Amino acid sequence: MDDSIKSILAREAAGGSVVIRGWLRTVRHSKNVSFLEVTDGSCFSGLQAVAAPELPEYESCVLELGTGCSVEIEGELVESRGKGQRYEIHASRVVLVGAAADDYPLQKKRHSLEFLRTLGHLRTRTNTLGAVLRVRNAATVAIHNFFQEHGFINLHSPIITLSDAEGAGEMFRVSTLNAEAPPRGDDGKVDFSQDFFGSEAHLTVSGQLEAEIAALSHSKVYTFGPTFRSENSNTTRHLAEFWMVEPEVAFCDLNALAELAESFLKSVFRDVMAACPDDFEFFDQRIQPGIIESLEAIASSSFERIPYTEAISILEGCGKKFEFPVQWGIDLQSEHERYLAEEHVKRPVIVTDYPADIKAFYMYQNDDGKTVGAMDVLVPGVGEIIGGSQREHRHDRLLQCIRDMGLPEEEYWWYLDLRRFGTVPHAGFGLGFERVIQFMSGMANIRDVSPFPRVPGNASF
Ligand code: 4AD
Ligand code: MG
Repeated sequence: MDDSIKSILAREAAGGSVVIRGWLRTVRHSKNVSFLEVTDGSCFSGLQAVAAPELPEYESCVLELGTGCSVEIEGELVESRGKGQRYEIHASRVVLVGAAADDYPLQKKRHSLEFLRTLGHLRTRTNTLGAVLRVRNAATVAIHNFFQEHGFINLHSPIITLSDAEGAGEMFRVSTLNAEAPPRGDDGKVDFSQDFFGSEAHLTVSGQLEAEIAALSHSKVYTFGPTFRSENSNTTRHLAEFWMVEPEVAFCDLNALAELAESFLKSVFRDVMAACPDDFEFFDQRIQPGIIESLEAIASSSFERIPYTEAISILEGCGKKFEFPVQWGIDLQSEHERYLAEEHVKRPVIVTDYPADIKAFYMYQNDDGKTVGAMDVLVPGVGEIIGGSQREHRHDRLLQCIRDMGLPEEEYWWYLDLRRFGTVPHAGFGLGFERVIQFMSGMANIRDVSPFPRVPGNASF
């Protein structure tokens, strides 16, 4: 049974006895009554309990209560006379479950997000992180719903892997070898054949390659899991551990993939806003004014599509001075991505057909011999939230590319095999889950949309 504050606040009418359990967000003792605001994380608002001095435990318990205590309160649910709340509780029983020591660091005043990051064990009790956690939950549900409704099979791709899905070498090693004195071969190199998996293993950077396996048997699949990158990027958009959503579709080209990405994102925006109206009200008031209106506008208009070559012309001709100079062949930097989305089209934009040289080995080689069937979805405020592509499904082309890029051919034997046994054109993308939460909430730093951010130099909590 749902006995949360959310469910109590959703009741049609006051009346009846209720029991709530949670943490005190604020406590106010006035002369002849105490106001106790309790939150349990189920929704943005708390529920206020009013405790009168007639309660037998008034002096011994109620007057001792302070912010951060955990409590159980029973009482009658009544219409509230106060502003901004529908119901309150007239307490008939107040139990202190766990006291909060005097140095409880979350006080009523606003704390900076930087300060709250040092309190990873307590910050989920704040309005901001509280809202973020509920929105993450609603987005998870919305993502699964979208794919389930569109005939996709959820695939659990592995976390430990022998292959580098992006070929970029940004992987964390998983090893049980003695770090101080690993076994070495005759050549002096570490002998990973003696390691746990019999070869050098890592945490995955993407579930894509395995999703391709499953797409070539189950047609439409998606993964939704943690991914890891050891890139040393201290930015507001990078985490070393983040969640990625990766659909992979057989018999699909770049165009159809872009359509999928657009309808997927719009559906997620709509569902999450509908599920968490109070949290979005908060983001709109406190984090990014206008966010609700702009998300609603995005959900009901079409995304712009611009080929990379055209995007470069736009950037070259826009008269803006970029820190990183623009020229055909560069990888778009965050400042370029944001210019395109924020200033040029003022809504999400899908950039397609990037130069082959700056993209991963598995992308479909276009007929022009220079570009690949890649696409990135760029949004205002954040930049890239989706990266994807049509895959190179032609065996010889893929093999050539793996060789040209100097990747270890033998490690991709099964990936190449898929191109020998019933290959089909197929395509997929990866959505950075934290990036999309950042975009929806307007939060400036990705470390504040992940409950437990892992970044260079920090994996606390
Ligand atoms: O563009 P990326 O690197 O693409 C891939 O990994 C493909 N294998 C996906 C696929 O086609 N199945 O990463 C995909 C998305 C990015 O667009 C970004 O949103 C997010 O993952 N991302 C990160 N998010 C947080 N921290 C990081 N360090 C990220 N790196 C990528
Ligand atoms: Mg990318």
